[in-house]
Amino acid sequence: MNNDHVSTDETPSGNGPYRHDESDGGHRFSSRFAFVLVAIGAAVGLGNVWKFPYLAGENGGALFVLLYLVFLVAIALPILIAEVLIGRRGHVSPPHALMRQAAEFTGRTGRGWYVIGIAGLFFGLVIMSFYSVVSGWTFDYMWTGVTQGFGAFDPDHSRGHLAALQASVPRLLAMQGLFILLTVTIVALGVRRGIEAAMRWMMPVMGVLMIGLVAYALITGASGRALSYLFSPDWSKLTVPVAAAALGQAFFTLSVGLGGMMTYGAYLPDRASIVRACTTVALTDTMVALLAGLAIFPIVFAEGLDPAGGPGLIFVTLPVAFAGMPGGDLFGVTFFAFLFLAAITSAIALYEPVIAWLEERGIRRLHGTLIAAGSSWLLGIVTVLSFNFWKDIHPLAWAGERFAAATPFMAITLGLDNLVLPVGALLIAWFAGRLLPEPAVVEQLSADPRRVARLFRLAVRWWAPIGIGALLVFNLTGITAG
Ligand code: PHE
Repeated sequence: MNNDHVSTDETPSGNGPYRHDESDGGHRFSSRFAFVLVAIGAAVGLGNVWKFPYLAGENGGALFVLLYLVFLVAIALPILIAEVLIGRRGHVSPPHALMRQAAEFTGRTGRGWYVIGIAGLFFGLVIMSFYSVVSGWTFDYMWTGVTQGFGAFDPDHSRGHLAALQASVPRLLAMQGLFILLTVTIVALGVRRGIEAAMRWMMPVMGVLMIGLVAYALITGASGRALSYLFSPDWSKLTVPVAAAALGQAFFTLSVGLGGMMTYGAYLPDRASIVRACTTVALTDTMVALLAGLAIFPIVFAEGLDPAGGPGLIFVTLPVAFAGMPGGDLFGVTFFAFLFLAAITSAIALYEPVIAWLEERGIRRLHGTLIAAGSSWLLGIVTVLSFNFWKDIHPLAWAGERFAAATPFMAITLGLDNLVLPVGALLIAWFAGRLLPEPAVVEQLSADPRRVARLFRLAVRWWAPIGIGALLVFNLTGITAG
């Protein structure tokens, strides 16, 4: 069934047939550790450092953080495990992995699942469209640090700087283009081993930088206020929109809901424990998000910035911290450089499934890469214009007050978090919990104790779909009623 890409890969781990492409420098990971590194690369990115803090700020802080943590462990982690499991069973790109296994177990063609898989890839490119624009900002800020330093960044200057960047269409397009260009160069060269190797030192350095930043923020900023803002929940603020935002962010941050992680699952050695690998990924990812929150909010409160400042939050806040810090220019430049690299490793996870699928359809790797890059760059124009010419266009105004001010860019991120990712996660839960028969699942989880597989089945058959489904229904009825 999946032997049309039989590999002669020399790597000793695993025993199934694998897709393999010589130009790619090896499609299979050398070990579970290598998978963990690259999956962490996919998970840790702007979602942790940029999106998590601004969503926490917009949704009132601690309660959002708590719900996010609960949903991450109880719902998003099982979905991640499900994606990796489906991917490893299939050893092919998401649409083919879904279609073939659906055909295998339902006796039908599996075409419907194929289309669902393609939809997932398409929405990955939609994520990439805004992800690339915001990643471009990180590059722009790094460049500002190199050429001017952050010395002049008081809160007013900082707001003005971001506003000037967002007003300039050529600058936004150039930075976005640069980000996409760098990402596709890496993807087209297929330097998976290179990524693996880079991740080995990038992640520790990133960790040290984050901890340094947190220490500075806690010592010099309004740490008491920040801590209670982030960690003492006010239950009276519990609403469906807050919970839905937390769930959407839990999916986004682990890169699940679109099937993309199936691609990395396909490269995971057969005997490696999926559960342990995915748990490591989720733990690391959560640590980075919490560190980002701890770095940003003490400064936000100390400088009288607005926690609900929206997507510009870290770009306004962090330079103010760098301005006050000894050695702040060097620190700031290094920080933005690493955030940029972390964004690249996530972006690769958005392109790779598309390119893998196109490759299986006989399209050359280079051409596939150009198709994916070109379409995400074009789609990205919507985001670019949302900060200037289209900033008064509000496509979701019909959906009530909550979305009244959303620009096209915000509409895209809200649509993904509130609708696309939860629906995708539901479908994946259905696939892993109800379409795949129990023995197929148990076989994939054989590296772990039997009760882990039982727990996983319970999660994808019952509590994840019930939780996601209930929130989707309440959230959507709230929107249409509002
Ligand atoms: N998880 C990435 C982040 O938090 C974003 C991402 C989402 C990457 C979906 C790939 C797929 O930055």
